Amino acid sequence: MKRYQICCIGAGYVGGPSMSIIAYQCPHIDVKVVDISQERIDSWNSPSGDLPIYEPGLREVVLSVRNRNLFFSMEVDEAIEDADMIFVAVNTPTKMRGLGAGRAADLTRWELAARRIAAVATTPKIVVEKSTVPIRTAEAIASVLTASGKTHFSIVSNPEFLAEGTAIQDLRNPDRVLIGTNTEDPRSVEAMNVLVDIYSHWVPRERILTTNVWSSELSKLVANSCLAQRVSTINAVSEICEATGADIDEVANAVGLDNRIGVKFLKASVGFGGSCFQKDILSLVYLCESMGLQEAAEYFYWIVKLNDHQKERFVSRIIHGLFHTVTGKRITVLGFAFKKDTGDTRESPAIEVCRRLLYEKAILSIYDPKVHSSQILTDLCHSTGMDLLELNKYATVYADPYEACYQSHALVVCTEWDLFKELDFERIYCEMEKPAFAFDGRNVLPHETMKSLGFVIYGIGKPL
Ligand code: NAD
Ligand code: UGA
Repeated sequence: MKRYQICCIGAGYVGGPSMSIIAYQCPHIDVKVVDISQERIDSWNSPSGDLPIYEPGLREVVLSVRNRNLFFSMEVDEAIEDADMIFVAVNTPTKMRGLGAGRAADLTRWELAARRIAAVATTPKIVVEKSTVPIRTAEAIASVLTASGKTHFSIVSNPEFLAEGTAIQDLRNPDRVLIGTNTEDPRSVEAMNVLVDIYSHWVPRERILTTNVWSSELSKLVANSCLAQRVSTINAVSEICEATGADIDEVANAVGLDNRIGVKFLKASVGFGGSCFQKDILSLVYLCESMGLQEAAEYFYWIVKLNDHQKERFVSRIIHGLFHTVTGKRITVLGFAFKKDTGDTRESPAIEVCRRLLYEKAILSIYDPKVHSSQILTDLCHSTGMDLLELNKYATVYADPYEACYQSHALVVCTEWDLFKELDFERIYCEMEKPAFAFDGRNVLPHETMKSLGFVIYGIGKPL
């Protein structure tokens, strides 16, 4: 009997892990993940298991199913033609030019993928919208797909809620799986049920929600906006704390213990990053604006504005703390990823912090346990406009945290890596310029111990 065939277009942070889990949980299904990037596919196929993304637990899952029922390939057309179900997990960044620039999601890649499916498919397909897209994208995609008239396509929306750093845990034990479709069309409902059956292999049925397609698309944008809104709220409160002497962690705990509020996602920081929060909020803002919902648009836009403000005021604090100038001073940036347990730097607050410090002519020593030095330098070239030759005069990436801290005027924590808590601060203090400063953008350092060693330490929302 022919085995059920799934194809996923896009082998990135979503396509790779989510398809690995389907293959792992459903040995009776063949899953092929395809991409136009040769480098990414080669890396997914790397014999040593040196995968293109770092995610705890991912390597073990991939190695256990790769070439059994999980395959990575560049053969996009062949995978489309063979598949019964096609997930589309391509990137949907914010549009950089043209109509809606700086707000709307750029759906070019999605449309290209849909046109490829339309061109190649000769048998009925279930097309699953996995990327995060603006509301009503499924409708647009349906017109692209059905225009060829060659075969039948059922469109299902299935947004992904995994967070990087905990992707495998989130995929294996999701709070919910959301599946939306056109509930008035029996073939679409049939397609939705096929997807429900797949998830039912490991997700309890009551956690698989089925809705109409518009609710599903909108829920994804709203979920990210709610999460980001909590971070911006607590970050706004951190500024009040610094002005009044209240302690942000005490406030977050006291507020979060109310069951209606909850303790999660109330950690003050240098600002949120990642490829999705800002882009999804801006997409929601654009949606509101295009419908004339100005107040709603402004409300959501302020989540992003507050986040920009948080990054700015953190850098201002560093500059003021270092006697109003950082020119020529060596500053150690600890952490470059947008959060711990990932090597992803997209929209990382570290990029903006470094950009502004470089603008002030500081000399940066950067350390991150998982981000490749080439990625850090590329990000900084893009953000500062410097070429590599020039950047190399002002920024060095180290593979060892102690070397990065050597003869530094200040430590600046941008990512909450656990290992930063365990560093030998006595050694670091001895090897630093004095007074030795630490600006903890994640409140992860052992502040009291460091103060007793002689550090001048600044934490987000902490009394000085
Ligand atoms: P990504 O950039 O890591 O991966 C996308 C991949 O798609 C890339 O490897 C790219 O080469 C490939 N691609 C683009 N166009 C293609 C085409 N026409 N044919 C074949 N391959 C193509 O992006 P990501 O982080 O995986 O995000 C994908 C989508 O999922 C986005 O819409 C994002 O908003 C959403 N999402 C991301 C996360 C996350 O944690 N990163 C979580 C939930 C949802
Ligand atoms: C987020 C959501 O959590 C996922 O549900 C969603 O699927 C995903 O976006 C997406 O659509 O891409 P992710 O961005 O990977 O996941 O990571 P988060 O844990 O949400 O953190 C986002 C940013 O907020 C990070 O920079 C993090 O450091 C920051 N953050 C988070 C805080 O500053 N404080 C907090 O309390 C929580």
